[in-house]
Amino acid sequence: MRVLILGGDGYLGWPTAMDFAAAGHEVTVADNYLRRRIAEATDSEALLPAPSLTERAQIFAAASGQAIAVRIGDLSDPDFMFELFKETDPETVIHYAEQPSAPYSMRGFREARETFQNNLDVTFNCIWAVKDIVPNAHIIKLGTMGEYGTPNIDIEEGWLEVEHKGRKDTFLYPRAAGSLYHTTKVLDTDLLWFYVRTHGLRVTDLMQGPVYGVSTDEADLDPRLCPNFHYDDIFGTVVNRFLVQAVAGVPLTVYGGGGQTRGYLNLRDTLQCVRLAADQPAQPGELRIFNQLTETFTVNELADRVQQAGQQMGIDVAIKSIANPRKEKEEHYYNPVHSGLTELGLEPHYLSETVLGGMLERIIENRHRIDINRIMPRVSWS
Ligand SMILES: NC(=O)c1ccc[n+]([C@@H]2O[C@H](COP(=O)([O-])OP(=O)(O)OC[C@H]3O[C@@H](n4cnc5c(N)ncnc54)[C@H](O)[C@@H]3O)[C@@H](O)[C@H]2O)c1
Repeated sequence: MRVLILGGDGYLGWPTAMDFAAAGHEVTVADNYLRRRIAEATDSEALLPAPSLTERAQIFAAASGQAIAVRIGDLSDPDFMFELFKETDPETVIHYAEQPSAPYSMRGFREARETFQNNLDVTFNCIWAVKDIVPNAHIIKLGTMGEYGTPNIDIEEGWLEVEHKGRKDTFLYPRAAGSLYHTTKVLDTDLLWFYVRTHGLRVTDLMQGPVYGVSTDEADLDPRLCPNFHYDDIFGTVVNRFLVQAVAGVPLTVYGGGGQTRGYLNLRDTLQCVRLAADQPAQPGELRIFNQLTETFTVNELADRVQQAGQQMGIDVAIKSIANPRKEKEEHYYNPVHSGLTELGLEPHYLSETVLGGMLERIIENRHRIDINRIMPRVSWS
């Protein structure tokens, strides 16, 4: 397959690129380093310094013998997007290229507007490039479980059959996002659905939960191929953050009551899910939605797991509730359906003590790089 990965320098984009290349696909990645720039501007750089995308591709080629083509440019610029599509003629487009930090999107007007414009523009340009240049290509778009919020009923996979006054119809599942970033993902889904039903595009929208981990078959070939590993309050996801806090001797920062429940998955399973979706594409005129998670935890349960994994390695880990900077329910019902990707063949890697121990070892090797000023929340929703 000719595969085009938008946002290929990112935490998920880079390991996905290596995974597809290792499987023998023809891979091009595009990125404008937006995340690196925001990380620098907000003092939120990753734990390990990452070589440039071009250097990473060279290191990967030397280690594996597989090529990844790199294009640097802004995908919110339609000219760059259209040229990229003409040049690469993709059969599969994997769209990761967004500003993905909820706290950053809630920091102020400038950051909210940047997130709103960037995310919607990239999705819009991607849709038009597919529609006008490669109409049979399959778009795999990364959405988020955060689009649904925390409703008091089961969360179906994207769609809900509604019976109203004796009649039935199926609608996009109601969404109630908890940040401006998550709201841009809701709007993305609506845009995609409009162009799917109007122009017959083929789209898979993956409602993904927070991802943890740094290890993949290809990333483990060379330490310089490691995905961006953030532990700060802006870009860090909760499991990665808690593990760094454990090593730094900072009590794990449980926001409020800690009963907030979400669906999580290992980075290795993100790669599996995207590959499964690419190998078994949506049909023309289909917006296929999967809930991409493998298990659910409360924040308190995650903190307990990290504490136990730390104790196994002789680290004394404390847990401390701090004022919740977000506006969210701290106790709620949460039951998302997530059978679609299992039916396609997903074999989950669960959050085991071995997985947490492996990550802790990696962090301990780099403990001298941890800056504890990046740990406490610096952005509040109110
Ligand atoms: N990481 C998670 O836990 C998680 C969970 C749910 C959903 N997602 C979604 O998955 C996708 C990837 O997430 P990630 O964690 O890898 O984020 P990331 O920030 O590491 O990667 C996104 C990449 O896209 C690039 N990008 C953004 N705007 C661009 C533009 N205009 N032009 C070119 N490149 C641009 C960034 O520079 C970055 O390298 C995002 O859409 C995110 O919303 C991530």
